[in-house]
Amino acid sequence: ETNPIPKEEGMDHSLNLLREGYTFILNRRRGFNSNVFETRLLGKKAICMGGAEAAEVFYDESKFIRSGAAPQRLIETLFGQGGVQTLDDAAHRNRKQMFMSVMKPDDMQRLRDITKKQWDMALTKWEQMEKVVLYEEAQEITTRIACEWAGVLIAEQDVKTLSKDLTATFESPAAIGPSHWQGKHARKELEKWLIVLVNEIREGKLQVPDYTVFYKFSWHTDLNGDLLDPETVAVEIINILRPIVAISVYIAFVGLAVHHFPEEAAKVQSSDDETAQRFIQEVRRYYPFFPALVAQVREDFVWNGYEFPKDTMTLLDIYGTNHDPTLWDNPDVFNPDRFIDWHGSPFSFIPQGGGDYEMGHRCAGEWVTIEVMKISLDYLANRMKFDVPEQDLSYSVISMPSIPNSKLILTNVKRKM
Ligand code: HEM
Repeated sequence: ETNPIPKEEGMDHSLNLLREGYTFILNRRRGFNSNVFETRLLGKKAICMGGAEAAEVFYDESKFIRSGAAPQRLIETLFGQGGVQTLDDAAHRNRKQMFMSVMKPDDMQRLRDITKKQWDMALTKWEQMEKVVLYEEAQEITTRIACEWAGVLIAEQDVKTLSKDLTATFESPAAIGPSHWQGKHARKELEKWLIVLVNEIREGKLQVPDYTVFYKFSWHTDLNGDLLDPETVAVEIINILRPIVAISVYIAFVGLAVHHFPEEAAKVQSSDDETAQRFIQEVRRYYPFFPALVAQVREDFVWNGYEFPKDTMTLLDIYGTNHDPTLWDNPDVFNPDRFIDWHGSPFSFIPQGGGDYEMGHRCAGEWVTIEVMKISLDYLANRMKFDVPEQDLSYSVISMPSIPNSKLILTNVKRKM
């Protein structure tokens, strides 16, 4: 017994997607009163869905694949050619293990140490500055963290350029025209630089510690026991460096949340990890960041009475699932305490994807993100004082990625003793 999927009429709704951004799927789920609906995007039929049950199906490997699913413009800027995001099955698991092998407890401890050192250095610098643009400063902090943690030292004069190039790869995917082109160009430059380094590591000309990303990725072997080609290693190293720099978006939102919700920030204690954890989780749930995921139906199947034909492009709503009123009480209220007795479903809270890390495509860097955010929160809430002068603190739920308009300007920054 099957029912037709509620269908949005019209030739193509790509423009609406750009006009409605993060709310595109949620608006239509409400309009159709259905967690699944059909529309047309990028000239193709697309099924869109949201909510915990939908997320669970989306992550069922027997039903969806990723190869061939991502639009070319995402590959040109965000993902890179041949990256882990586009692999399936055994090839994906082999590549994913490479990523998870650098996410062990020791790696997280090193990351915390590096992050604290970088925040201390930044704070010392900011005390001398008239105004600090938090989002821009955070891009430099995270660029330094990314390089040091991954295993390469970069010259001080190169930090700004590298930080700009990495930022362009995640700011540009939804853009059209010059900034999209800038993102593509930045990716090409980054890949060229990294291919040289990978070759030097393999030739023994560049020494990097054996526990680092650079070392492990350069020497990783695929299912046939072969080393990856240097282009692919470069793409995957960018899959580490780029998103670490993207944490700067979350750092700006952490700053915004500390400013907008001072009574919640006051609950965050340096000595109590749980209080920081809850605040960070709520920042990741509440603010828009990654809008939706895309996959392709592997074989015809029926779910909840709806037919999913083979090869259909399917989108999973990330923002809307994190704001789903059937999963979250008052989803549009910022309330870290909602995480006090939260049971941790892998499908209802999906700011960085859902399901399993090793078996599925869930973000390899979720722990990295949480660690860097917690330390950043500790500095912003407990270790420094600052003023937030008159500025445009609004952020869009349309343009992607969303960033506070003023990029969060801080003045009179002082270390708290
Ligand atoms: C995948 C979000 C930070 C590495 C993903 C996915 C999302 C996501 C939504 C896709 C999940 C899927 O396709 O099912 C984010 C957000 C971040 C972030 C919002 C905040 C800045 C990081 C960091 C790293 C990282 C810091 C690395 C250190 C990856 C990798 C994948 C991925 C390698 C591909 C995993 C796969 O295809 O198996 N991320 N991420 N991400 N992320 Fe993140």
